[in-house]
Amino acid sequence: MKTFYVTTPIYYANSLPHLGHLYTTVVADCVARHRRQRGCETYFLTGTDEHGINVQRAAAREGRAPKEQVDYVVGELKKMFAAYRLDAEGGGYDIFMRTTEPFHYEGVANLWRKIAAAKTPTGREAIYKGFYEGWFCAPCATFKTEEEYVRAEREGDAPLCAIHEAPLDRVSEESYFFRLSDYGDALLALYESRPDFVRPEARRNEVVSFVSRGLQDLSVSRLKSSVSWAIPVPDDTAHTIYIWLDALTNYVTAIGWGNEERERAVGFEKFWPALHLLAKDILRQHAIYWPAFLMAAGIELPVGVFSHGLWLDPEGRKMSKTLR
Ligand code: ME8
Ligand code: MG
Repeated sequence: MKTFYVTTPIYYANSLPHLGHLYTTVVADCVARHRRQRGCETYFLTGTDEHGINVQRAAAREGRAPKEQVDYVVGELKKMFAAYRLDAEGGGYDIFMRTTEPFHYEGVANLWRKIAAAKTPTGREAIYKGFYEGWFCAPCATFKTEEEYVRAEREGDAPLCAIHEAPLDRVSEESYFFRLSDYGDALLALYESRPDFVRPEARRNEVVSFVSRGLQDLSVSRLKSSVSWAIPVPDDTAHTIYIWLDALTNYVTAIGWGNEERERAVGFEKFWPALHLLAKDILRQHAIYWPAFLMAAGIELPVGVFSHGLWLDPEGRKMSKTLR
């Protein structure tokens, strides 16, 4: 029998969900039900992204432990999904994936080891230790380049994230890097040979033009002393794994890559590769970082990445948890 695997992003478990999260999940649910009706054995994943500085800070603000904070948000998200019959009982998702699951820790550690042992297309180590100096937006969980921030009005103040209008964090610390700069040609060849890898076409063009301008290496760890609520780097306990490497990996650990528990329960070979649904806010991570990580690890690439637009709030800004 034919199989099909569809995913939503795993949503940040720092604060309460809204219409945007419901929207992607409803779309994925429609796609999954359609495939099931057509006799395809279908696996539908949604869930939560539970690590990182943002959750750490939200928990501190609420006077909760990080795990209590994420359990609370997960409870609310599950209630919302159940109300719309998107949950397993309602015939919706097959897994509510959580990155705090032990099997996910195991899978992420295995993926890290696999990438750390790999050579890039130019024969260099795919992961190396360096020093990161720059600006980080906690709500975006992204390092920002000069085009992506707004200078502070007062000399000496931190610049502001162009999306969140909040001060960025200065990061200046030892860090592991993923040699993304070596994957530009392979990524361009991918978009060329599989024109529907990134859809719709306007989004594909954006990605192609971004990659054509040249990629910078990606910082993929933080010092544990800066970000403690995260998965440790295998064999180097002073570092924790960057949230996007942790989060994207959920799509494969959920079905059993790198861990026996889910392999027995679902089966990686059976369901991979997946179709990823998401909004344009996280297109770059899914259309660039994720295939590059998979290439380095020698894992088959996704079916594709489909990116929809964003619901706006009454002021015309992206509806968002972190803007509240
Ligand atoms: O980015 N309009 O989580 P997130 C439409 N944890 N869709 C929206 C939306 C809006 N205004 N706001 C959110 C993260 N969404 C990471 C993802 S995946 C490995 C890790 C939906 O809670 C849309 O699908 O910020 C968007 O891409 C996603 O929620 C971002 O959710
Ligand atoms: Mg977001």
